[in-house]
Amino acid sequence: MLKNDTFLRALMREPVEYTPVWMMRQAGRYLPEYCATRKNAGSFLQLCKNTDLATEVTLQPLERFPLDAAILFSDILTVPDAMGLGLYFAEGEGPKFERTVRTEADVAKLFVPDVGTELKYVTDAVSSIRKALDNRVPLIGFSGSPYTLACYMVQGGSSSDYREIKTMMYARPDLLHRILEVNTLTVIDYLNAQIEAGAQAVQIFDSWGGSLPFGKYQEFSLQYMARIVAGLKREHDGRKVPVIVFTKGGGQWLEDIAATGCDAIGLDWTTDLGEARRCVGDKVALQGNFDPIALFAPPAAIEAEVERILQSYGGGTGHVFNLGHGISQFTNPDHAAALVAAVHRLSGKV
Ligand code: CP3
Repeated sequence: MLKNDTFLRALMREPVEYTPVWMMRQAGRYLPEYCATRKNAGSFLQLCKNTDLATEVTLQPLERFPLDAAILFSDILTVPDAMGLGLYFAEGEGPKFERTVRTEADVAKLFVPDVGTELKYVTDAVSSIRKALDNRVPLIGFSGSPYTLACYMVQGGSSSDYREIKTMMYARPDLLHRILEVNTLTVIDYLNAQIEAGAQAVQIFDSWGGSLPFGKYQEFSLQYMARIVAGLKREHDGRKVPVIVFTKGGGQWLEDIAATGCDAIGLDWTTDLGEARRCVGDKVALQGNFDPIALFAPPAAIEAEVERILQSYGGGTGHVFNLGHGISQFTNPDHAAALVAAVHRLSGKV
């Protein structure tokens, strides 16, 4: 039995005693202990692929802060890596792929990898983390959305304007749809494997869906996420497995996102939580939406911002406190501690 299931209850809009909180990228470079473990591992990818070390870093933020959920330590880009695209991290430049998917021939070669073998290191990490957590808090599994994964597969790395993938979308929508089809089938297998290995909730990171025009978002990102939600095991070990959809920049499409059948919507900081709740709060829970840069202000200002967000939501269940995007590597961990403490104290945790 879970000792603290507040996070899962809030996602299912069941009664809670206080607002649960976790932070996107809560295990990462802002923690000196993470940097030490990563150094020992040799590289970020070796850290992801080593079961014991991935377990260790997943638990690091929980040793420091009374967080209400753990998130699997991995990366969304393990999926295109398993498709044979050759992921590597160039020092200071972020993720890169040895091969891109741009031409008709590239797309024709694309395949759904065997998740059970190619991504076994991820499900092994899930089992190991569940054991180490010993039911303290729930474990979140995750994947990138088909469109966000395609951004990296087509661009070959991070991008500021998504020129290659958007050109493909306008010029050869058939090619992009084929990539998204393969990604969708892969993500369904991948998330179901994580659920079977013990992930108690899953989040789909649609980090770049918000860069699409109205209409194109629905056609090239949302439609495929809806298929994923429909293809997931929604119950495991006698308990519901909630699904969170996070489209960064998706605040104007809340009703469409809720219609995917997800249990919760992740929001970035540009959306008013109260308005979002009035719009879709009868269908889904909401997760968010503290501006991660506000963590650079002194603790008193952090607390004021936490209070504003809690008041904007307006009490009751259905809110999971989180950042509106990943925590910056330059954040002072004491400020993250102030955030977690403020959420608990101001929402009534005794
Ligand atoms: O939240 C967590 O603590 C779990 C782990 C996690 C990581 N990446 C670890 C990571 C999760 C959930 C992700 C998701 C991810 N990865 C996304 C979606 C969320 C988002 O931020 O929009 C994306 C787009 C990626 C791709 C990715 N991975 C990028 C662009 C980078 C480099 C960015 C940077 O901060 O340098 C990564 C690397 C990465 N993934 C790091 C971590 C802790 C830093 C790598 C390091 O230790 O050097």
